[in-house]
Amino acid sequence: MDLKRMAALRAVEEIRDGDIVGLGTGSTTHHFIVELGRRVREEELEVMGVPTSYQSMFLAAESGIGVTSLAEHDVDVAVDGADEVDPQLNLIKGGGAAHTLEKIVDSSAGRFIVIVDESKLVDRLGAFPLPVEVIPAACRPVMIRLESMGATVTLRSCEGKDGPVVTDNGNFVLDASFGAIDDPAGLEVDLNSIPGVVENGIFAGLADMVIVGTAGGVEVLR
Ligand code: 5RP
Repeated sequence: MDLKRMAALRAVEEIRDGDIVGLGTGSTTHHFIVELGRRVREEELEVMGVPTSYQSMFLAAESGIGVTSLAEHDVDVAVDGADEVDPQLNLIKGGGAAHTLEKIVDSSAGRFIVIVDESKLVDRLGAFPLPVEVIPAACRPVMIRLESMGATVTLRSCEGKDGPVVTDNGNFVLDASFGAIDDPAGLEVDLNSIPGVVENGIFAGLADMVIVGTAGGVEVLR
């Protein structure tokens, strides 16, 4: 079985009747949402989802999961993917440009479960360029500031199209390669203090559980 799907199916077992579920974004959470929807339709599991992107919102609706928002409900459990996971369960997220709403939903949840395949496990964060969502007008000054902090920075562009990726919030994404990150929690705070930065993709100390799909089966890290 696909390793991402394996992790996603195990995460669905964590969901209880009546839960309000944060729905992450990406190919791994795609499997989770589809399977959760199957249980809603076939096993009459009663849940509602709080999506972290338009992509997840539409997939939830298609899958038969009722959608709500943080304005109406607290999230019991959020399930989301990641681009990197270190041994302390710090994450890099934002490969899908959805990390701002993901961090809002995931951090507000009673429990935050991460689902990944084994390729996402790293000794230290930083090989994956760190996504930084910026207000468009601040793009150039933020780029210069990140470069002065030692990063190599690119503006994320749309594959096969002209122009930058625009997030669900109407902003741009800078991908900042810092190399190995020694202090994820410190860098997370420092980046968010730059004027014009909306949110960065370091999720330090937020994950309660990481479910990993491996060739040898599912592993759970806590
Ligand atoms: C989106 C994310 C995704 O969770 C992350 O990029 C992992 O994606 P995938 O499950 O497709 O590997 O942070 O912003």
